[in-house]
Amino acid sequence: MASSDVERLEQEVAELRAVVADLQQKLMDAQKMSAVGTLASSITHEFNNILTTIINYAKMGVRHRNDETRDKALDKILAAGHRASKITTGMLSYSRSRGDRREVMSLVQLVEDVLVLVEKDLQIHRIRLETDFIGDPSSEVNPSQIQQVLLNLIINARQAMEPGDSLFIGVRANPETKTADIVVRDSGAGIPPEKLPNIFEAFYSTKSADAQGQGGTGLGLALCKDVVESHKGRIRVESVIGRGTTFTLKLPLADAARALREATSGSPIQKAG
Ligand SMILES: Nc1ncnc2c1ncn2[C@@H]1O[C@H](COP(=O)(O)OP(=O)(O)OP(=O)(O)O)[C@@H](O)[C@H]1O
Ligand SMILES: [Mg+2]
Repeated sequence: MASSDVERLEQEVAELRAVVADLQQKLMDAQKMSAVGTLASSITHEFNNILTTIINYAKMGVRHRNDETRDKALDKILAAGHRASKITTGMLSYSRSRGDRREVMSLVQLVEDVLVLVEKDLQIHRIRLETDFIGDPSSEVNPSQIQQVLLNLIINARQAMEPGDSLFIGVRANPETKTADIVVRDSGAGIPPEKLPNIFEAFYSTKSADAQGQGGTGLGLALCKDVVESHKGRIRVESVIGRGTTFTLKLPLADAARALREATSGSPIQKAG
């Protein structure tokens, strides 16, 4: 083959690689929006509740002239406004694409930003949420991609559970592996052992799309695995039929020494709700 042919072929391969990379990014963006789309109705529902609170307390303030009632009304309106602002901030932070930029981020912060978006959905499906944050480990991550991973795991967990079940989310530094570990554990249906090897494959799904045509593409976990591996991390799954499923993300610690000191000196940030 003439060297000009080789050059031409090399250029074509490079062009095709760029097209594939671009399509992969587009697929990831589409999956991201589809995941948050699952929450559209619960988030709208919550905004409706917030607006009802604001309108009712505003009416009360207008009607009652005494300071005490007006102060109470303003306090309630302020709290409702803060709640709404937390949700819009969470949504903006989730939707913002930062390209491939990595930054050192608190993983507890990332988990909390995602929880703001899913809290109402969990509440509507009567899922109890428990969290346990030990220390505040950081990792060098693309925040938007890790939020996408967390949202996928939480939505999968919720879809596997029945009313009354519980979801546990834990964050801690792991001294043995020098990783920051995020655990997402549900008490749902579990995954049969023979299906476990397939769940990270693209397009593997046991679900059908919902009424809005969302979900069930089988891209969620494939994407989680790609993102975690591109962060030099690992994703593990353990599941027992009828008992539930645990996914563990292990991401390299940004400041291993400090995080491990915090993890062993026991300064837990514990929450239950
Ligand atoms: N927490 C879980 N409990 C039980 N089964 C699960 C859980 N997480 C994932 N699975 C199983 O793994 C399959 C693949 O999950 P994945 O998130 O990749 O796709 P999906 O949820 O079916 O579709 P999509 O994420 O595109 O809406 C699911 O269809 C389900 O069978
Ligand atoms: Mg999924």
